[in-house]
Amino acid sequence: MKNSKKIALGIAFALVVFAGCTSEEEKTQAVTEQVEKTDETQKESTVDKISKATTDTVDDVTKKAQEVSKNIQESAQPIIEQASQKINQTEETISNTTQDLKDQATQAVSPVIKKVKEAVVATPDGSKLYAKCISCHGQNGEKVALGKSKIIQGWDENQIYTSLKGYQDGTYGGAMQGVMKAQVSNMSDTELQALAKYITSL
Ligand code: HEC
Repeated sequence: MKNSKKIALGIAFALVVFAGCTSEEEKTQAVTEQVEKTDETQKESTVDKISKATTDTVDDVTKKAQEVSKNIQESAQPIIEQASQKINQTEETISNTTQDLKDQATQAVSPVIKKVKEAVVATPDGSKLYAKCISCHGQNGEKVALGKSKIIQGWDENQIYTSLKGYQDGTYGGAMQGVMKAQVSNMSDTELQALAKYITSL
């Protein structure tokens, strides 16, 4: 019921109750009292209402806030899980890719390394091999080794190779061929060729 109606009813009620009163003064007083009383009650109930409404609103807002926060947490959870899964997958992919690249690089390089090794072995360094000959034959093959050998400087490649090969298998040489056999016994054919070639350049 609206406040104005309540007040009107209160006044009407007071008027009826005190209708029997004789003096105008008494009537006025009764009405005034009723109005004051009504006004007081009205004030109290309004304060109550406001305070209840306020409490309800605060409760509502709190509840809403809790719901929203719960919703956010719930909806964030799968996103966080997905993200961490993606990160793990990416890490795995990177490590796999790195391994693949390493493997590919090794595969690509290994035949090259093999070829280089073969090439190095195939063409021994004549100058390095000649290093151990210098003491007897001289830096440029100009010496008579141990006072016995021929001077090998100026010899052609084939002559040098044939004599070295001969020392190796015992088919060439003079009195001191044993000295030379010891020098060349462990050498390969390609090494003897490299030596012969190098000596012609001296
Ligand atoms: C310890 C000394 C000594 C060393 C080191 C030595 N030679 Fe000789 N070389 C000789 C002697 C001595 C002869 C002669 C041997 C003989 O036929 O009687 C000779 C002979 C030769 C000959 C043939 C020349 C000839 O007299 O018919 C060639 C070529 C030769 N040496 C190359 C080499 C080469 C290459 C090396 C190094 C790998 C080498 N020598 C290391 C002492 C040496």
